[in-house]
Amino acid sequence: MRHTGSRIGAVSLRPMRPAKDFFAPLAVGAPAPLREIPARPSRAIHFFDPGNPKMAAKVPDMVGTVDVLLGNLEDAVKAENKEVSREGLVKIGQDVDFGPTQFWTRINSLDSPWVLDDLTTLVPAIGHKLDVIMVPKVQGAEDIHYVDRILAQLEAKAGLDRPILVHAILETARGVANIEEICGASPRMQGLSLGPADLAADRRMKTTRVGGGHPGYLVRQDPVDGDIEGPRTTYQQDLWHYTIARMVDACAMHGIYPYYGPFGDIADVVACEDQFRNAFLLGCVGAWSLHPKQIAIANKVFSPSVEDVRHARRVIAAMGDGTGAVMLDGKMEDDASVKQCKVMVALAEELAAIDPELKAQYDAISLED
Ligand code: GLV
Ligand code: MG
Repeated sequence: MRHTGSRIGAVSLRPMRPAKDFFAPLAVGAPAPLREIPARPSRAIHFFDPGNPKMAAKVPDMVGTVDVLLGNLEDAVKAENKEVSREGLVKIGQDVDFGPTQFWTRINSLDSPWVLDDLTTLVPAIGHKLDVIMVPKVQGAEDIHYVDRILAQLEAKAGLDRPILVHAILETARGVANIEEICGASPRMQGLSLGPADLAADRRMKTTRVGGGHPGYLVRQDPVDGDIEGPRTTYQQDLWHYTIARMVDACAMHGIYPYYGPFGDIADVVACEDQFRNAFLLGCVGAWSLHPKQIAIANKVFSPSVEDVRHARRVIAAMGDGTGAVMLDGKMEDDASVKQCKVMVALAEELAAIDPELKAQYDAISLED
């Protein structure tokens, strides 16, 4: 009998690449995959349409004002403009010096007629500038394997000396069901973003705005004195909590990074900040920005506050070698809480290295009362 991997019912357990081959390049001459995904600040991933001359003209001035600039080729670009947008992206990639800002793109989906041309055009022309390729509508590990091999072939042909990383958008029910295998499918995997618009459509969810919720999704206080008609407080619940929490676990398990996706109601900066902050508190490192206003929101939310950094530094100082327990301001801190504090301080240091304003604020922190 031929071995095609074990099978349980209809579920096929695909054989993984053996450990010894996992970090081998997938094409002769392709750059070696990274062993660790660098924790580069990426609080806001700012989307622009490279085929829109007004937006394209603003890109050089945005360098240094946002952590990631992403040229979008997929949804929101009309079918008849796909080529113009791709050409615009090539021009921007060739002309702009991105300095400290990361340069990403979102290619068309793997079932579209445009994606192959996206990859075969972009990698030779601007592959040396592209940090990350975002792949939409990823359904399972097979989608990542497809992109992984093609990128290796194109990188080898173009003589690139570092691998382009891959970021998957989680926007189908099957993608969510396969989340762990997607994150672990390739050493190129840099992270995952929530794609709430497509995901809601795929799952038959009902939301009233992209990345937001629905006022009908709520919990209601129990009846007071058994009076079901009487006044009771209701609280709207977050429709995205489950998905974000799964993303955080899958990404942490694989050493890659989770991101909130878009928040479509640009004028509602308050709710946008709430959604982004919930994601930050659960473990996400950034979110998408669809308008320059949202860059400021993401930068604020995904940077630890001065008070949080001060607290973290105090705990680390009080904990000495990091073992045992101490009481600080009436609260118990121990080996586990000091680890949380170290994550916070490491993030603050990464951000201070690229953001002079934050550096000044963090440098001014005094540990004295
Ligand atoms: C993003 O691509 C989304 O579908 O929300
Ligand atoms: Mg989408």
